[in-house]
Amino acid sequence: MILGLVIILFLIGHGNTGPGTTPHLKHIVIGRCYDYITLVNPSFRYNCEDIWREFEEAVVRRTPCSVRVKDYQRMFRAVPQTLPCDRLLFWSKTRDLMHSYAAVTGRFWTLEDTLVGFIFNDLIWCGQRERDRGFDFQSCPEWSTCVTHPVYSLWKRASQNFAAAACGNITVLLNGSIHNAFNRKSMFGSVELDNLNPRMVSHVHIKVVPNLEGPFVESCSKGSILDLINVLESRGFRWSCTDRDVTLMILQCMKNPRQSSCQTCSSSLLHRKSLYL
Ligand SMILES: *[C@@H]1O[C@H](CO)[C@@H](O)[C@H](O)[C@H]1NC(C)=O
Ligand SMILES: *[C@@H]1O[C@H](CO)[C@@H](O)[C@H](O)[C@H]1NC(C)=O
Repeated sequence: MILGLVIILFLIGHGNTGPGTTPHLKHIVIGRCYDYITLVNPSFRYNCEDIWREFEEAVVRRTPCSVRVKDYQRMFRAVPQTLPCDRLLFWSKTRDLMHSYAAVTGRFWTLEDTLVGFIFNDLIWCGQRERDRGFDFQSCPEWSTCVTHPVYSLWKRASQNFAAAACGNITVLLNGSIHNAFNRKSMFGSVELDNLNPRMVSHVHIKVVPNLEGPFVESCSKGSILDLINVLESRGFRWSCTDRDVTLMILQCMKNPRQSSCQTCSSSLLHRKSLYL
């Protein structure tokens, strides 16, 4: 009875666990890597088997909550990548819209378009409590429960590299329907922003996008966006901000054409078209 209680308390104490390592992790990682270097970006030369080996080495030699950013150093050395100027897209809390925006414009590069981002997108992994036992496919700790989470550490390093390589104009897509659209705790606010180099980045285009139906919480002149602008100015970046980007609005309307704001959008477009005819 008491033993049962102790076990239950123990389980509660370690209750902050999420799903385990993604099944078939090795095949997915190596397969995505070959997909990338063969079909997505054939110009790059990488050794996919090496990348896997360095990755595995970083993760399974350590307990699940103790994989630091620097433990991935050797893996990142195996995936150097030059990024195109004027095309990097940063985002926070706008994931779905960011995906359609990048796909439709065909012009932007997000972290997921880099080799590392492409390979590890949506995957989960962690080692076993006892070292050297391989990956834990049963459960992994939640991000919030450890400072040095294996998944978080990899994305942190990937985001640092991505931001540090940014050059020319960059774009930042933020969610105008939430408080703290610019959140100092997000990957953009805590890692990427600090790694942007004002001598390489010539202009920061901020795009604030609220949901069509609202709420309209933040805009270029309201809320945390002003904090972002302050940070940018204090570090010497040139910037501009829009909260009425027509392309983004049309994309949102394609998903939800009956929205009243889309009616005015389509009639003004029709009007514009009739002017040209
Ligand atoms: C803004 O965030 C909310 C809550 O996370 C989400 O439901 C909504 O889709 C986001 N809006 C945009 C434009 O990405
Ligand atoms: C970069 O942004 C500035 C300011 O909006 C613009 O004048 C310039 O044409 C942009 N350059 C490129 C290459 O997009």
